[in-house]
Amino acid sequence: MAKEKPWGGRFREKTKREVEEFTASIRFDQRLYRQDILGSIAHAEMLARQGIIKKGEAQKIIKGLKVIKKEIERGNFPFRTELEDIHMNIESRLIYKIGGVGGKLHTARSRNDQVALDLRLYLRDEIKEIESFIRRLQSSLIKKAEENIDAIMPGYTHLQRAQPVLFSHYLLAYFDMFERDIERLRDCLERVTVSPLGAGALAGTGFPIDRRFIARRLGFKKVSENSIDAVSDRDFALEFASASAILMMHLSRLSEDIILWSSQEFNFIELPDALTTGSSIMPQKKNPDVPELVRGKTGRVYGNLIGLLTMMKSLPLSYNRDMQEDKESLFDTVDTVKGSLKIFTLLIERIKINREKMLKAAREGFMTSTEMADYLVRKGVPFRKAHEIVGRIVRFAINQGRLLEEIPLKMLKQFSDLIGSDIYKYLLPEKSQELKSSSGGTSKRNVLRRIKRLKKQWR
Ligand code: ARG
Repeated sequence: MAKEKPWGGRFREKTKREVEEFTASIRFDQRLYRQDILGSIAHAEMLARQGIIKKGEAQKIIKGLKVIKKEIERGNFPFRTELEDIHMNIESRLIYKIGGVGGKLHTARSRNDQVALDLRLYLRDEIKEIESFIRRLQSSLIKKAEENIDAIMPGYTHLQRAQPVLFSHYLLAYFDMFERDIERLRDCLERVTVSPLGAGALAGTGFPIDRRFIARRLGFKKVSENSIDAVSDRDFALEFASASAILMMHLSRLSEDIILWSSQEFNFIELPDALTTGSSIMPQKKNPDVPELVRGKTGRVYGNLIGLLTMMKSLPLSYNRDMQEDKESLFDTVDTVKGSLKIFTLLIERIKINREKMLKAAREGFMTSTEMADYLVRKGVPFRKAHEIVGRIVRFAINQGRLLEEIPLKMLKQFSDLIGSDIYKYLLPEKSQELKSSSGGTSKRNVLRRIKRLKKQWR
């Protein structure tokens, strides 16, 4: 007989050590100890309230669980591989500490609903923390935008210079992306905070439990409606993993711009020494490793999402042991997202802008040719026709090796006699971005108004 395991009763042979090692999750799921104990305390209280166990028994159990929590926090809890996972490790320890009464805790419960609950509690806490990290990053974006409110840079499409925009407007584009990331996480939280406890192994239980009491105790608004669903699905974790993948995609794009812009080719920004690293061979190098790594880590967060989707695909209902494989990738996603957000906040705070270089680039590249076309449109030329005229002027300028504003009026008039001497002011990037006053456009007025509104919202 192999009685030392909670499920040892029906087994004649001892589990092979190799199998214990292969199947155990304690190495990584010990991270859920807090959630596991929280859920168990709520469960024990409920059992006593419903008269399923005695009040005194529940008190003993709860006291024992609290002692175990301290043991784990102090690092003197004896984790045992042969006890598979965090649930059985804690339960065994409880029985060892308070005696047979500890064995009553698992009444009307299975590890299947228990682990689903633990994960939900864990994700709830992490989502809240991630939201606060995103908020911090957003506020560093607002601060940078404010500090550099009128720095003008070339805006790109196809990575070709397109139209001048305010650097602050560019930063606030990311603010909005991160805002939607928060919305996605909050939305996912609605489906995370549903209590599966009471589903038992898969069928529910014959004991007169109070599922709503537990849900309330844990701060969950809902209980799951179907016991099979409750232990079978991990869609809430998938939603989190996919919201995280999208968030990392945003961070990765911002990383890419920072990497490009800090190169000598662009030279738009400078990263602080404290946040860059050197090369072991080339003394002149200052490398943007932080955004590079964030860009690289985006790959692992995508991988975690695909891994979880693949693991769940084709699993027959209800619980399958495959699902134990949900944890490491979720934990990794949480760590990666938090780590990336934290370091990025520092990075944004300390980026230095090379305004002159940005403005110079914004003056080159004929980026105000749309303004010239719009000028002609205001004088009655259909836009398509204006586009063609300006196209010819740009070609002329390229051949002459001049900027648009360097072409004398007399020459411009040869392309269209509607062009007057006031054209030159429209060719300045400053003027061009100021003209983009449609709602959501890059004009300074717009950006200032947006910053003001955001700051008010946040107070
Ligand atoms: N360690 C398991 C997991 O993470 C807990 C549930 C195990 N249930 C079972 N019947 N073996 O999924």
